[in-house]
Amino acid sequence: MLAIIGGSGLTQLVNMELTKRLVMRTPYGEPSGALTFGRIRGKEVIFLARHGYAHTIPPHDVNYRANIWALSSQNANHIVSIASVGGIRSDLVPGSLVIPDQIIDYTHGRQSTFFDTRDKPVTHTDFTEPYCEPLRQQCIRAAEACGRRLIEGGVYAATQGPRLESAAEINRMERDGADMVGMTGMPEAILAREAELCYAAIAVVANYAAGRGSSAHGVRLEEVNAVLKAAMEQVRIIIENLVEIHDD
Ligand code: HPA
Repeated sequence: MLAIIGGSGLTQLVNMELTKRLVMRTPYGEPSGALTFGRIRGKEVIFLARHGYAHTIPPHDVNYRANIWALSSQNANHIVSIASVGGIRSDLVPGSLVIPDQIIDYTHGRQSTFFDTRDKPVTHTDFTEPYCEPLRQQCIRAAEACGRRLIEGGVYAATQGPRLESAAEINRMERDGADMVGMTGMPEAILAREAELCYAAIAVVANYAAGRGSSAHGVRLEEVNAVLKAAMEQVRIIIENLVEIHDD
């Protein structure tokens, strides 16, 4: 089954026909909220709002392990993450959509593995290609029709947040090879991989990253919210398209 983790600007899927809500406890604590089960175009999906349904959980405080564990326990085997990002590369202008294909992790202090107990042999998970390629391709196909600028790959830099970055930090990330910056891509992607779930992300460029374009002297949050609001209307349609072409 396909699960969707909604980020900032997407705390519910209005086009989903709701069937049940499930409040769960996991060995890792509580997920961000109840899992929402429902149908989109007749197909069963699960939705979870990463920051909680009232958008109250900051990126560094999301219980990523509980979220992934909960979805996996309910037979989700594919996860699509909807994530807002700041655009670093010059063609990643606000309002564009990106299907990232690589990650750089700048987060710290987050619970980032399921393999941290001493009762099993040490496990090193391959993460050469952090996103699931078949699901990435489905996301690309689903987004192609929406008429927005679509970038079919890119390097996602995951920062700790909740603060935004300094201009020098963005310059450094660019030198590292990052194309976009967000706060939630890790450890979500690695936990999905550890749990053997197929994971991909649809990144919505909400703003120019700090020091770039109209954010040369600051990121204006009103603008971010306006861009996200408009883009998420289309993301809902993209999710419908994705559900239709997705086969699991
Ligand atoms: N930085 C980090 N995370 C973000 C940004 C940003 O500029 N925009 C949306 N999420």
